[in-house]
Amino acid sequence: RILILDFGSQVTQLIARRVRESGVYCEVWPFTADAARIQSFAPKGIILSGGPASVAEEGSPRAPQVVFGMDIPVLGICYGQQTMCAQLGGTVARGDHQEYGRAYVEVREACALTRDVWSPGAREQVWMSHGDYVSELPEGFRIVATSEGSPLAMIADDARHFYGIQFHPEVVHTPHGAQLLRNFTHGVCGCGGDWTMAAFRAEAIARIRAQVGEGRVVCGLSGGVDSSVAAVLIHEAIGDQLTCIFVDHGVMRAGEAEQVIRTFRDRFNIKLVHRDASDLFLGQLEGVTDPEKKRKTIGRLFIEVFEEEQAKIGGAEFLAQGTLYPDVIESVSATGGPSVTIKSHHNVGGLPEDMRMRLVEPLRDLFKDEVRALGRELGMPEEIVGRHPFPGPGLAIRIPGEVTREKVQILQKADSIFLEEIRAAGLYDAIWQAFTVLLPVRTVGVMGDGRTYDQACALRAVTSTDGMTADVYPFTMEFLTRVAGRIVNEVRGINRVTYDITSKPPGTIEWE
Ligand code: XMP
Repeated sequence: RILILDFGSQVTQLIARRVRESGVYCEVWPFTADAARIQSFAPKGIILSGGPASVAEEGSPRAPQVVFGMDIPVLGICYGQQTMCAQLGGTVARGDHQEYGRAYVEVREACALTRDVWSPGAREQVWMSHGDYVSELPEGFRIVATSEGSPLAMIADDARHFYGIQFHPEVVHTPHGAQLLRNFTHGVCGCGGDWTMAAFRAEAIARIRAQVGEGRVVCGLSGGVDSSVAAVLIHEAIGDQLTCIFVDHGVMRAGEAEQVIRTFRDRFNIKLVHRDASDLFLGQLEGVTDPEKKRKTIGRLFIEVFEEEQAKIGGAEFLAQGTLYPDVIESVSATGGPSVTIKSHHNVGGLPEDMRMRLVEPLRDLFKDEVRALGRELGMPEEIVGRHPFPGPGLAIRIPGEVTREKVQILQKADSIFLEEIRAAGLYDAIWQAFTVLLPVRTVGVMGDGRTYDQACALRAVTSTDGMTADVYPFTMEFLTRVAGRIVNEVRGINRVTYDITSKPPGTIEWE
């Protein structure tokens, strides 16, 4: 396995993604990690990430010195390269111009990283993002590639197996970047590339059995990818010791509750408690218009109902959660300051700690797309494994203003038409999330020979890699008019359709 030490780059997680895609297990730790902890992890190689600081500045982050004394290969990327050079006796200079975006390097010599990828004399495209550069090499290093802005774009100390790269091999804009990284992990570090989902599945099952023993586990199921995959995996490990609780809050998409029951109870034979709590939720949401109040009401009720159902089944010692690796990584904050709460998230997994149950979190080591791959490995249907994210508070935060059962039904119909057309056009997998928002606005229209005075809705569809930033999906006008035509004709209560073309930031993906 490989250890990645994070200096706070925006793209550190991408390094981990690339390494894992090549079949090598890796973890991301903050650069402040303790020397003893690093040694006991016993990595076959260490990668130092990029970061926003300047090595030339006093007090800027350094890699734990032990990294260079463990007799294992080290790869420094961007800031990682600079701090490695500074720590090994070289010099880093402040650049007089910053180099961002596409750049070209000239390959001077071959090294273990360039093997079968780059040849001496070639000009290769890379992605740069830095201000400083290494101006004087530490002893033992030689130059492999240069660029206009960075005379030392790639450097190597073959004897010690230390390598430095000024550009970012982990991003797709460096076309051969993944192969360069693979040459490091497989070639230089000698990793086998045998970290596959089949292997993970077997290991995870053994771990769950060892942790749980004869104990009983409850799992909150939402129909989303993470809790679904966690439930199926745990069920494979311990069978009927697992009970899933599905709290139906009445603000699911059309047909979703039935689908959850069908899949888990009928297909996977999992013990499933289905509690239809829609009256309770919709009752408590009456008159609530403030988005945060809606979110908090739903979060609170969810916990109440979950606890009730759990008490009914006689309790359990363990609580299963679909926590993913991005939630676990200790993030290195560039600013150090607290961030502003934009929305209080409610997750099915977000049950209170005072439930005094031990947690079973079998997906803690996985990224989202690895969870999907695991789901496929477990034979789960594509409609669950490939599904778009859906927020815990459901359609309630897609109905600005008061939520009523009637509005939920109108929205469900419009939303299914939108998703049906997206699927029919083969666009579902190209989109991060697509949904409809029912607007608290009534407008005048004309249908047949009559006047209508009904609600408007907005379509929202975005592309994103992690939900943190998002771009609007560029549908054709023909597609949009087809969807609009169907919604207005088929959904009673909506007579106008708009398309939300706001990116995130400044917008958020959901409207509330
Ligand atoms: P925003 O609207 O903040 O959403 O741009 C980013 C992503 O998070 C999802 N989202 C939630 N997911 N509980 C969840 O599990 C929530 O309370 C919640 N609120 C927003 C949203 O759908 C998008 O994918």
